[in-house]
Amino acid sequence: MCGIVACVGDSNAPGVVLEGLKRLEYRGYDSWGIASLHGNSISISKKVGRISEAAAALPAASVSIGHTRWATHGGVTECNAHPHTDCSGGIAIVHNGIIENYSALKKSLELKGHIFKSETDTEVIAHLIEEEKKKGVSFARAVGDSLRCLEGSFAIAALDCASGAVIGARKNSPLVAAFDGNGKCFLASDVTAFLQHTKKAVFLDDGEMVSLGNGRPVFTDFSLREIKKTPVEISWSSEQAEKMGHKHFMLKEIFEQPEKIAATMQNRLSGGSITLKEIAPVLRKAKQFDRVVLLGCGTAYYAGMVGEYVFEELCGLPVQAEYASEFRYRKPAVGKKTLAIAISQSGETADTLAAVREAKARGATVVSIVNVVGSAIARESDFVFYINAGPEIGVASTKAFTCQLTALAMLAVSFAAESGKIGEAAVKELVGGLRMLPQQLEAVLQESGRIKEIAKRYSDRRNALFLGRGVNYPIAMEGALKLKEISYIHAEAMPAAEMKHGPIALIDKQMPVVFIAVKDRSYEKILGNIEEVKARGGKVIAIANSGDSHLQQKADEIIFVPKAHELLQPIINAVPMQLLAYYIADIRGCDVDKPRNLAKSVTVE
Ligand code: G6P
Repeated sequence: MCGIVACVGDSNAPGVVLEGLKRLEYRGYDSWGIASLHGNSISISKKVGRISEAAAALPAASVSIGHTRWATHGGVTECNAHPHTDCSGGIAIVHNGIIENYSALKKSLELKGHIFKSETDTEVIAHLIEEEKKKGVSFARAVGDSLRCLEGSFAIAALDCASGAVIGARKNSPLVAAFDGNGKCFLASDVTAFLQHTKKAVFLDDGEMVSLGNGRPVFTDFSLREIKKTPVEISWSSEQAEKMGHKHFMLKEIFEQPEKIAATMQNRLSGGSITLKEIAPVLRKAKQFDRVVLLGCGTAYYAGMVGEYVFEELCGLPVQAEYASEFRYRKPAVGKKTLAIAISQSGETADTLAAVREAKARGATVVSIVNVVGSAIARESDFVFYINAGPEIGVASTKAFTCQLTALAMLAVSFAAESGKIGEAAVKELVGGLRMLPQQLEAVLQESGRIKEIAKRYSDRRNALFLGRGVNYPIAMEGALKLKEISYIHAEAMPAAEMKHGPIALIDKQMPVVFIAVKDRSYEKILGNIEEVKARGGKVIAIANSGDSHLQQKADEIIFVPKAHELLQPIINAVPMQLLAYYIADIRGCDVDKPRNLAKSVTVE
């Protein structure tokens, strides 16, 4: 949801910012722009379109700020692309978030004579700072005072021509500062933007400002009271944020899953048991909880749905997966005895963060399952389980999903064991199942050639259905989401038995129906549903356990997957769904890593 980068102290600051923006393009990609300081003026380059296609040769400068946009206020035009300036052109602003009171602010600034050039909410910030500066205060003071007038969410970088200063600030949108120890400072929405230059990062909290320059970022609140902050060392490498020979990040990330799932489990399995040091205090009081809620958006919500089945099965408690975006608008029965589990790859999704705050306000204990270390959700939760999946760049989440499922399974098993709901033998069996996952995922990936062939036969379809039951129903949901988000084919998912209650009317010879038909407790029932589709001429693509010759005869297409523990089988079944969607989208010529209208990190509500 928009990416921000700033660089101070590098003789090629515009180039550093351009490269950083390319790495942040997953956050938004309808237009981009860079502002640089040249002597006593600011020069701005803006373009509609993807920054990855930019071959901009920007004049050298040592101070630059930049932005890649996902439009909220104002259409996708060069004029609406950031950076935005004040009337004088001496202040440039890039912004991620939404200024909710911008109309009122704009009106009052217009009455004071300010002329607006764009339709964005962002531009008011530049004019507000200009107005504050007229009082004769420093640039930092003018920024701080302006920010206090804003309602909504923002991460900004502001460049002042007069002083050459760059100031960043955040409220409810991510921002991280960094420095290399040799005079260069950086600011970005996400660490991947500057990993090539440094791994020393400082995450800003809400209400904080940072001033870049003098080789080290200086942190204050909006009233300029200094704040001491400790840098963290980022363990991700810049190579991890490269495609490494794959055509797309999404494909690379799909193929990384065996290794990344092993990384999620690393140092957390010992013998036949699970040790989750980071959430030990929660597990110690496991018996005290009487309810579990799982919160997330998009793919992370589907991970929560799988978690609902797994927790319910193992712990015997009321468990509910909730869309984080809906959670705080209801009156959820959440209190001191509730364990709330927030799931988020980025750790920055605005709705999930708001749900975390709501759950905490109601007295729940919040554990988050997060990928990005130091992100807002990680910081605001009571406890964090990092999935260690490495940077996920493809907009459609893949490896983060299967790592989230792995983390949820580990958490549920530990919780059930600590609360005395399952014994040592059951734990041992599940741990054995977890250990087999990387190898089993390798086996699924070896089916990719076959899945590509299937994709070729169905890539021209306009609709698809995805059906599964029980713990695999959320995987059908995720399969449909993957297909629609990257290939733009309309896809729906439902519990297989629900097809009869309406959607069966859609079945004809053109309709591919993807069934998750592994040998679990609903296998026989699923076979019945397959017959119903076949009887109406629909095409059946079955995800089946290896060696299921009966299903091989029935289905038009079959994708074999290894048999896992029933509660872990969704982790395996997710992978053919991802590959099918990927190959169909690629065959259709879609921009797989940057699907239209989407952004990877949705930091506005
Ligand atoms: C966006 C992304 C999805 C992701 C969702 C939640 O919609 O396009 O891929 O699942 O946000 O993101 P999170 O970072 O909270 O997991």
